[in-house]
Amino acid sequence: MTGNPERPGVPTLGEYTAGQLRRLCEVASLDADDARTYADVLVEALGPEAGRRLDLPPSGRTFLSDDHTPVEYSLSFRPDGPPDLRVLLEPGCGTDGLEENGRAGLDAVRGMSRRWGFSTTWLDKLEDLFLPQAPQGPLALWCALELRPGGVPRVKVYLNPAARGADRAAATVREALDRLGHQRAYAALPPGDGHPFFALDLGDWERPRVKVYVRHPGLPATAAGDLSRMPAGPTAAALREFAATAAGSPDARLSGLPVLSCHAFTDPAEARPSGFTLHIPVRDYARHDGEALDRAVALLGRHGMDPAPLLRALPSLTGRRPQDGVGLIAYLALAHQRGWPPRLTVYLSAEAYAVRPPSG
Ligand code: TRP
Repeated sequence: MTGNPERPGVPTLGEYTAGQLRRLCEVASLDADDARTYADVLVEALGPEAGRRLDLPPSGRTFLSDDHTPVEYSLSFRPDGPPDLRVLLEPGCGTDGLEENGRAGLDAVRGMSRRWGFSTTWLDKLEDLFLPQAPQGPLALWCALELRPGGVPRVKVYLNPAARGADRAAATVREALDRLGHQRAYAALPPGDGHPFFALDLGDWERPRVKVYVRHPGLPATAAGDLSRMPAGPTAAALREFAATAAGSPDARLSGLPVLSCHAFTDPAEARPSGFTLHIPVRDYARHDGEALDRAVALLGRHGMDPAPLLRALPSLTGRRPQDGVGLIAYLALAHQRGWPPRLTVYLSAEAYAVRPPSG
């Protein structure tokens, strides 16, 4: 792919994000071959939109990220090694309308399934629920790639519970869980205000998960302790502390962008989830990214994780200083999955189109 020959200084979306991804691969200790492979995978998954110059506005208004870049990165930290690098993207970002967007998303995921030899059975079973004719809502299909060493990523697909109407989102989620054998799962979810996403693990996972997200607008940080339904999951105190630190104050009420909880189901024989993640949209509770970064570093330290890769990740994404904007760090998340040590995930924006100015 080439840039515009008349304005050689302006990169395309594909060039820009592929460069970010290659540098992040190095931060995450992936080798140069993997970095090249994954940069190509990203560009391919973005389709024709990858060739669009960044001095043009984004062709869609995706809410995948605040500035409508259809790409977001995340580093998922663990105590005992380099973080896992993931990239979230919207394959249909360049299409006209949600129905076409979903179609492009399905095509992209099916292409990946052929290339890497995984099954899309789960997705096929749910297509009419989440990718109906004349779909509604804020997204059609996103996919996330977990970039493992070796050049074959693990794949996750994010679907829109409101595709058949926001008023039917709960029924849609319940029906989808039913079809995948999790008949009792819906009743296990905590109360909240709707479901922004329904997600599936596809590809080479040890235990593929079905994940349901719940929105919690106006949540006091102290109430984050009550959201997990996972047996032997995180303690209420640990969740409260995580929320308070990420939000910047123990008595904060998170009345801006809502906290999201995510409940992962792996075994249909079990009513309760085997995984729980608490997502805090830190960008709405910090004046600038310097503050968000300090909180991330404090939380990593508290969980025995090395913050060095995060400190190297920010300058691999942008030349600006953290204090000169807010939103580069989009979310901080604490993830528990049975059989694994807890993980801390930092979501990082591409900011290909815009930087939100610091507040206050
Ligand atoms: N930008 C959207 C939001 O803020 C979707 C999203 C992107 C998201 N990355 C995320 C949601 C990470 C939860 C966690 O809701």
